[in-house]
Amino acid sequence: MSNSIVIGAQWGDEGKGKIVDLLTEKADIVVRAQGGNNAGHTVITDGNEYILHLIPSGILWPEKKCVIGNGVVMDPISFLEEIDGLADKGIIVSPDNLIISTRAHLVMPFHREMDAYKEAAKGDGKIGTTKRGIGPTYGDKVDRIGFRLHDLIGDPVAFAERLHKRVSDCNPLFESVGMKPLDAEAIGKELLSAAERLTPFAADTVDYLHSAIKEGKSLLFEGAQGTYLDIDQGTYPYVTSSNTTSAGACTGSGVPPQKIDRVVGVTKAYTTRVGEGPFPTQNDTLAEQFHKMGREFGATTGRKRRCGWLDLVLVRYASMVNGFDDLAITILDGLDDCEEIPVCTHYELDGEKLRLPPASAKDFERVTPVYEKLPGWNSDTTKIENYDDLPENARNYLTFIEKETETRVSMVGVGPSRDQTIIR
Ligand code: GDP
Ligand code: IMO
Ligand code: MG
Repeated sequence: MSNSIVIGAQWGDEGKGKIVDLLTEKADIVVRAQGGNNAGHTVITDGNEYILHLIPSGILWPEKKCVIGNGVVMDPISFLEEIDGLADKGIIVSPDNLIISTRAHLVMPFHREMDAYKEAAKGDGKIGTTKRGIGPTYGDKVDRIGFRLHDLIGDPVAFAERLHKRVSDCNPLFESVGMKPLDAEAIGKELLSAAERLTPFAADTVDYLHSAIKEGKSLLFEGAQGTYLDIDQGTYPYVTSSNTTSAGACTGSGVPPQKIDRVVGVTKAYTTRVGEGPFPTQNDTLAEQFHKMGREFGATTGRKRRCGWLDLVLVRYASMVNGFDDLAITILDGLDDCEEIPVCTHYELDGEKLRLPPASAKDFERVTPVYEKLPGWNSDTTKIENYDDLPENARNYLTFIEKETETRVSMVGVGPSRDQTIIR
């Protein structure tokens, strides 16, 4: 029995889905504890591609259980659509293999509209959100005016009353910028009908997880987003609205820190980011190269991801704040064609050397990344199965990362499918 957390070390899309899928083999229960359907986790197994948004990737393993914890924000309508989409692909999601915390907050239609409204209002200063209503839902949670799953399924009359009030508060704002007002009656009907399907999934997940721990079951926490999208540690305000770092797995599930045995950090062998905000090592030539190959498009919104070289300032700090026990390096194969690979070891800002990220996004925009150039390996790694069979320069690249981040590399991705992962 051992409990692990998988966390992105960059700006999301590090390949967490693939690593979680791999680690699920040895786990009993896969848990999502923060974020919502802003996530897009790709898993490729037996030639089939699945993109999971709200539902834990463990769902692809028939005998495993999945939990959506209290820290997740849950869009009831998208949740049901995701279930139906998986059913079309032969994956059955039922209360037998998935339960949802009654404490989870609901993403309501007015949250999605508010997300769009706020982004438009910010103009050039927009965050570039996924427009899934994530920020407004967490905002209401912290403001103590949110709607939780138990509100929807427990007291439909009170739910409808509060819903009408919120919608009539929001509508004048939407109308003031030419957005269509929402119809509280129609929304209420849709949500209350969704409630019928949702009720069997609702559970006290804290009780469930604690009982599982007592029985010696292994939990695997599937982090969503990444360290630099964390509301506290990320490139604020260009972040998401949850704690994406390892501690978020505890607050978002009710499982205490001393029950956690391992934290695995996931980082690409280079860096990507979707949405706005600072990105010191961004390199448009590298991005163009990846986009031409059909790579690096967002799994949730289809947007082109911004791309750049590996930034070890980011991974170093991520290892500190998450307490990474080990690192999974994904898409090493993405660098197979490079003659030379620049890696950012530190930043310079106003004549000072920074080995850790600055707090302010403005300073983050102003830093100069300082690179060390490592020789490439110029060969195909996609069929390699053993660490020792990797080209010498690829191993040197990984050793360099270990040294700079003081974290051991335990897994290396050399292709998108489940079996293209080297376990060291
Ligand atoms: P997540 O959000 O962290 O789960 O990552 P995404 O699924 O959004 O994006 C990662 C992308 O990289 C997906 O298209 C994966 O199929 C792909 N991927 C993951 N690991 C590897 C790898 O080792 N090599 C290659 N070529 N692709 C990978
Ligand atoms: P996974 O789990 C990459 C980004 C958005 C935007 C910022 C805020 O697949 O790694 P939000 O909609 O959360 O308010 O948007 O965060 N973002 C992600 N980027 N991967 C994700 O999830 C993301 N989830 C949110 O692009 O910049
Ligand atoms: Mg993703």
